[in-house]
Amino acid sequence: MGFLYSQLVTSLPYPKGSYVGKTVVVTGSNVGLGKEAARHFARLGAQRIILAVRNVEKGQAAAEDILRTTRRDNEKDFIQVWKLDMSSYDSVQRFAKRAESDLPRIDIFIANAGVAPVKFTRVEGEEEMITVNVISTFLLSLLMMPKLEETARKFGVKPTLTITSSEVHGHTTFPQKSAAEGQIFKSLNDEATADMDDRYPVSKLLEVFGVRAFAERHPAHAFPVTLNCVNPGLCHSELSRHAGFAMTVIKTILARSTEQGSRTLVHAASLGPESHGHYVTDCQITLPSPFVMSAEGRQAQDRVWDELMQKLEKIHPGISKI
Ligand SMILES: NC(=O)c1ccc[n+]([C@@H]2O[C@H](COP(=O)([O-])OP(=O)(O)OC[C@H]3O[C@@H](n4cnc5c(N)ncnc54)[C@H](OP(=O)(O)O)[C@@H]3O)[C@@H](O)[C@H]2O)c1
Repeated sequence: MGFLYSQLVTSLPYPKGSYVGKTVVVTGSNVGLGKEAARHFARLGAQRIILAVRNVEKGQAAAEDILRTTRRDNEKDFIQVWKLDMSSYDSVQRFAKRAESDLPRIDIFIANAGVAPVKFTRVEGEEEMITVNVISTFLLSLLMMPKLEETARKFGVKPTLTITSSEVHGHTTFPQKSAAEGQIFKSLNDEATADMDDRYPVSKLLEVFGVRAFAERHPAHAFPVTLNCVNPGLCHSELSRHAGFAMTVIKTILARSTEQGSRTLVHAASLGPESHGHYVTDCQITLPSPFVMSAEGRQAQDRVWDELMQKLEKIHPGISKI
């Protein structure tokens, strides 16, 4: 009932306020929620917007559309399209290096790019949703932290990094929690036992875990950057492009428009330290699923974080000390 109320009744505040002087980065912003969030930031005066996309041509088309509809087409350079392929750890690291050296500041970073394929495919040695939605998302987020911290220090602001998660994080019992010590990611990588209907929810659960685990280790009072995650609700976008007829029907009846869903991204990314480590839904800080809040979930969260950090250390030695 909560889901139906949220989808059909809740009205989400239209983004207001000024982003003049702010630099905003949105990943996965050539279409969908990321593009509409970028359009809001452009409308509200952001000084610089980076569309981080895997297909630069599509990104360029999105930038032109945003420039035209926000009537800022005379200020072309304020939207830049940068290549970022979350299926490649090299690409993620190259992007982070470029952002570190080329951008004077980053006030808002939305790690939004995500996939929901129906088939098991390996990318960088792991199942694609684990690579893109989880490992690359945290690789990128952690690599961006020094720039966000520098922005906080130099400009006396509190930057925010928001990860786009989903309420479906609560739709899984996370069967991999019973894997042997240190084997959670290994069990997720077993094609023979993979339940692909459960995989997208699991990937979104791991995002919620990661945000909470990071914030516990770097609490708001001791850390100058806010990290939170957002649930946009069920929205029209290209995400379920591979899903079947049933999803098309459900979306026709229940989904929010892409623009409405994007309001939740703008809202969460504009929150401050009160949202650090939290899950934001319907533009409100909310508790995540009962499983996340349970003792069992807590234990799973710590195990996932330890394994994730070990993976990230292998990809980018020294990342845990950043
Ligand atoms: N729509 C919903 O109902 C809903 C609900 C809850 C959460 N979410 C989350 O919201 C986020 C945005 O999704 P959306 O609904 O806006 O879907 P979308 O329209 O499919 O947009 C996803 C974006 O991510 C990009 N992307 C995918 N794989 C990538 C990769 N390897 N490297 C770089 N970019 C990549 C896509 O680029 P291409 O166009 O090149 O593929 C696209 O720009 C996702 O994290 C999704 O899980 C969506």
